[in-house]
Amino acid sequence: MYRWLDERLDLSRFNKKYLNKAFAVHHSYFIGEIALFAFITLVITGIFLTFNYEPSIRMVKVAGKELPAAYASVLYIDSLPFGAVLRSVHHWSASIMIAASFIHLLRILISGTYKRPREINWFLGLLLLVVAIVTSFTGYSLPYDAFSATATSIGYGIGTSMPYIGEWISQVIFGGEFPTVHSIPRVYSLHVLWFPLLLMALLGMHMLVMVKQKHTQPAYAKKVAPGRILGVPLMPQQAYMSTILFLLYLAVVFFIAGSYIAHPIEVFGPPTAATPAVKPDWYLIWIYGILQIIPGDLKINLPGGAVMNSEFIGSILIPGILGVAAVLLPFLDTRATKMRYMELPTRHPVRTGVTFALLAFLITTTLAGWKQELGFTAGQLWAIIIGSSVITYLVVYYAIILIWGRPPKGDEAETA
Ligand code: HEM
Repeated sequence: MYRWLDERLDLSRFNKKYLNKAFAVHHSYFIGEIALFAFITLVITGIFLTFNYEPSIRMVKVAGKELPAAYASVLYIDSLPFGAVLRSVHHWSASIMIAASFIHLLRILISGTYKRPREINWFLGLLLLVVAIVTSFTGYSLPYDAFSATATSIGYGIGTSMPYIGEWISQVIFGGEFPTVHSIPRVYSLHVLWFPLLLMALLGMHMLVMVKQKHTQPAYAKKVAPGRILGVPLMPQQAYMSTILFLLYLAVVFFIAGSYIAHPIEVFGPPTAATPAVKPDWYLIWIYGILQIIPGDLKINLPGGAVMNSEFIGSILIPGILGVAAVLLPFLDTRATKMRYMELPTRHPVRTGVTFALLAFLITTTLAGWKQELGFTAGQLWAIIIGSSVITYLVVYYAIILIWGRPPKGDEAETA
């Protein structure tokens, strides 16, 4: 079979060129792979879901009850053999993909790998993370239960709060004020077709750029095998490792998803006139937390009568500022020579301090999502958020200086 294909497609040339290449090995490189496995699992389980899901809010009669068709079709999916588990695997994989790509981002940040020549992959990665989160959010509305209808209304509100373009964007995505009969079919098309296609295109570019530029290597590779790649051939060793990791991923995610069924819609019930108190999934709670603690009457007037209201400032402007800082990072923190080895976090106390401060900020703004339950005032929570971010930076910075000493200057010093 191989010979037959080789004769026609010249596979051996391709194999020699790409599959024999050494792939650098380090445990942290598996995190990006986990994000990839989660995406593949999402596509496969998603296909099963589309076979049985009905993207419509028309009312249907099920066991004597009038229910929206979308909601009823998800109840039907749950009643199929392994249906509820596969839906749960889909939901858990979305969380894992976002968590893995965020941890992967932290790895890139803390090891300085965003620098020359890997800026393009840093930008593609940022886009991947944003599109993955938006895709996940579009999945929220689809079961059309009381939770998802409320959470999507919040998303609709955020969309319309954008000055100048908000009304138009919300019209295009939701087909009018959510929920109209057009809302679910449009969001469905985005969720199962356009965003996954965009993610595939971005992932493909991300991988191609990585192959072209070659992966960075762990800092110790410079000492152990100077000038050479310390790693294993892509085929067969790396391929075996990745296959084993994928199987392990499936085993763990099926175990978790089977033990804790994600988003059990019968608990929430179909949408009602009463709005249930909902919190978004964990990766959006930090934004929800900021919205809890910024003054509701905050307003910035713009030319042409447009305004930036508190909803826009909390959910788009503040996260947007973090995004712009991330985009500017490779231009601000530059490197004279092309990077081949990861930099040691202990040689870069400022950057390592900032990475930990960012984590402290995200954790404390997430805590602010429980403002009512915690009984803190907005002022107290702001003090905790700013105080813990600054203290974390100082503690990490001085701990590094105390334990490892001041870093030597220059590019070469990084791997010393
Ligand atoms: C769905 C999301 C993502 C997937 C599936 C993914 C996948 C991968 C994989 C498999 C690698 C090679 C192994 C590794 O270095 O871990 C890689 C490398 C890389 N990724 Fe991602 N990635 C994603 C998101 C991101 C994000 C959010 C960033 C940063 C903003 C990013 C930036 C990079 C960079 C700069 C490299 C090259 C690393 C080096 O050579 O050391 N990626 N990615």
